[in-house]
Order: sequence, then structure tokens, then C-alpha cells
Amino acid sequence: MTSHVLLTRALPLASETLASALPHAVRTLTGGDQPPTRRALLEGASGAAAIIALLTETIDDELLDAAGPQLRIVANVAAGYDNIDVAAARARGVVVTNTPGVLDEATADLAMALILATTRRLVEGDRFIRSGSEWIWGPTSFVGLDISAGATLGIVGLGRIGMAVARRARAFGMRVVASGSRARGPEAVALGVEPATVDEVFALADVVTLHCPLTPETRRMVDARRLSTMRTGSYLVNTARGPLVDEDAVADALDGGKLAGAAFDVHEHEPRVNPRLVASERAILLPHIGSAGRATRQAMAQLAVDNVAAVLRGDAPLTPVS
Ligand code: GLV
Repeated sequence: MTSHVLLTRALPLASETLASALPHAVRTLTGGDQPPTRRALLEGASGAAAIIALLTETIDDELLDAAGPQLRIVANVAAGYDNIDVAAARARGVVVTNTPGVLDEATADLAMALILATTRRLVEGDRFIRSGSEWIWGPTSFVGLDISAGATLGIVGLGRIGMAVARRARAFGMRVVASGSRARGPEAVALGVEPATVDEVFALADVVTLHCPLTPETRRMVDARRLSTMRTGSYLVNTARGPLVDEDAVADALDGGKLAGAAFDVHEHEPRVNPRLVASERAILLPHIGSAGRATRQAMAQLAVDNVAAVLRGDAPLTPVS
């Protein structure tokens, strides 16, 4: 059997671009926005030299075994790669790549949009207007937090995306405290970012925004205990990964007034959305669109294809995960 490159979904790239970049036949499992079934994925992987996967596809021992020993690379079209068992791939000599860098600005734009939307109650105001309720300008109606009056933004995980959020927040006049690998580096210092531990970030911030990867250590890092250390009337924004957060604890914190707002692009049990958050006026809920800029999605797809092409040529991958 001639091996192929498996695309779990059609990518936003012209088929000629794919054909000229990849030396193997390309097999695409689904054309639209729906992921393939597990069965289709297992069958499609059989005999593949490369798999280009999305974050909705679980790449584990079963899938790697179904693919077979000729598999050389799994290229994730995402910065996060918690859907891939990297150790299982490594044990089989399979390279894993992701798409860091090309989605930093788009994701930071969305995080900043959510910081503004939750603190200034945009979605609540929109729902109110659409409800048809009578209204007139009032001095206390829909008041929220003035982020530009020195409010503190806490960034958990000052990596590339976190830094892009820090740049925006500083331009808006926010004080920024941050944990993470770059919090003491030259760019953070030049921006006036204050380094802090994760616990300090939660305790000091008016708005906490999450930008760390999902790992066994970070899973459910925002739980009832952490939330209890936050300022009363603060805000939580998550554009990273849903399972970083215990959503029922967040719903309790919204109901009890500990949190004034929560804005989530990602969800603990994605694509299921927590019904208590759906019922909360103070929650903003989006369908995982952090990287959903047209050019960004194309750049992510291109980088995944470039990684596959490099590995199939025998060159080093451009963006291996470790
Ligand atoms: C999107 O969530 C990504 O990790 O790229």
C-alpha cells in the first residue's frame, strides 16, 4: 500500500498548494466543520505517513497503532496539543508538531475583546436591548470596571500569547502582573510587566486571563480554592483550554458575587457548555474562536503542511513540540 497524508478535515488552503507541497497523495476525511467519526479516523489513518490533525481529534495509542509503523509525523493545526499523547508518539519515533507563533495576535485580540466585553458588560447590554425592555440612560445602569484607570490584569502563563495580551493591556493603561517563563525577560521588563507567582496573580488582579497550556499540573487550576483567593468583584477570562477551569466553581463564584464576570472562549467539556454558565447573565460564552481570523487560520494550516513536507523530505520539523 502506498502511504498517504491524512487530513482529518479540509484545510483553508488551495488543493494545488497542498499537492505541490506534499510528495504523497492527500486523503481528506471530512470537507466541512464537522470532525470525522472515530471509526473514520482509525480507518483513514491506516497506512498514513503523516496525519494533519485538529484539536478535536484524539491521537493516542489506539490511533497510532491503527496508523502503523510507516507513520512519521502528526502535525496539529493548533498551538495547544493536549489532544495528542506525545509520549506515545515519541515511543514510536513519530514527530509531533504544532503551530505556535502564527496565532498569537488573533488570540490576544480575542482575549482583549473579552476583557473589555466582560468588564463593560457588552453582551449583557446587547441582550437587554434585544429583550425589548424599556430603557433610558441612567447614571448607574450597566456600570462596570474602568480598565484604563489602572485596573490590574493578571496573566497566568506569559508565553507568546500572554505577551501579546500584555502589550494590548499596557496600551489600554492597565497594570499587568504575570506568571510564566517570560515574566522576568527583557520584553516583559520593557513593557513594565510585574512578575508574580500564580497565586499572586490570582490575589492581585481585577481581571485574570489564562494563557497556559493544559497539562496534568494545570488541569483545574482555577478551582473553588483559587477563586476564593481572588478579589471580590473580579473577572476571569479563558481563551486557553477549558479544563483549566472548574466551571461549576466559577458558576458558584458568579452566583455569590465573588466574580463580577467570566468570559470563556473554551469550555471544560467542549463542545458541551455548562448550563449554569448559560443561565448566568454575567457569563460570556464563545465557540472556541481564538484563532479564527481568516489569515491566521491559513497560516496555521500552512505551517502544519510545511512541517509535514519537511519531515517527509527527511528534514527537521519547523515547530516540533519538544
Ligand atoms: C487553539 O485553541 C489552539 O491551540 O491553537
